[in-house]
Amino acid sequence: MGAMSPTAHPTPRACATALPDGRCLTWDRYDPPAGLTTVAERPPLVLLHPFPFSRTFWSDTAPALAALGRPVLCPDLPGFGGSTLPAAAHALHAMADDLAAWLDGLGHPRVALGGLSMGGYVALAFAARHPARLAALLLLDTRAAADPPAVRAARDAAIASLRADGTGPLHAAMAERLLAAGAPASLRERARMRMETSVPGLVGALTAMRERPDRTAELPGITVPALVLVGAEDAVTPPAEAHALAAALPRARLAVLPGAGHLPPLETPAAFQAALVGFLAGC
Ligand code: MLT
Repeated sequence: MGAMSPTAHPTPRACATALPDGRCLTWDRYDPPAGLTTVAERPPLVLLHPFPFSRTFWSDTAPALAALGRPVLCPDLPGFGGSTLPAAAHALHAMADDLAAWLDGLGHPRVALGGLSMGGYVALAFAARHPARLAALLLLDTRAAADPPAVRAARDAAIASLRADGTGPLHAAMAERLLAAGAPASLRERARMRMETSVPGLVGALTAMRERPDRTAELPGITVPALVLVGAEDAVTPPAEAHALAAALPRARLAVLPGAGHLPPLETPAAFQAALVGFLAGC
């Protein structure tokens, strides 16, 4: 299927779903453009955003992927965008269970699931807890390992900074760290403008990431087709992590994108979309 012209891109339908415990999960749905035959037997693609973004992270990418003929669903993880954070501390595996309940409500027994960085941590938790729901897995600039002590300490410092000073310092630091060294200032600003502003949501996610388990031993049991993708200049989850993921997954394809740091959908969008289109066309 050829690439769509930018003017033909569909706009998302903004949706909100009540989870079984009454919390709200907000999400965008991108449908294939009118006139394109939907590939009915292919399950939808679900894309999980990184930290500290929300579902709008995918708004440049999702339309081109919907042009493949299957819907693309982009939820806000709990505490981000319009999705409610639970009263008690939320774990990444509980976020995965929220997604399973949301997909139950939508009537989607299986999905192709992609997650970037934190989204990838949640996707791996989903793969462990709901393996029969998975048709394909896309692990994007992410890792299976747990946080080493230095990263746990850095998360504690970020939580303290958020509580004391709000989101400004975290946003500024992340805008520097997430993009490749040579990224233009305009791109850093665009990324910063999309960052989540809810302090409780950000604190909840940092706490959940700090507590996540090492899922390395589970990788050989994930037998669906997998795409492992990383920016060649990713300083947060460096290419070595992606090589390790791809080596441990039985059916993985690896893509390393030159010129991109930790956020290839924003940094090298054409190469990112091409890698996903190539992978999804075959599964
Ligand atoms: C992300 O991009 O989701 C985060 O930087 C991941 C992390 O802090 O481990």
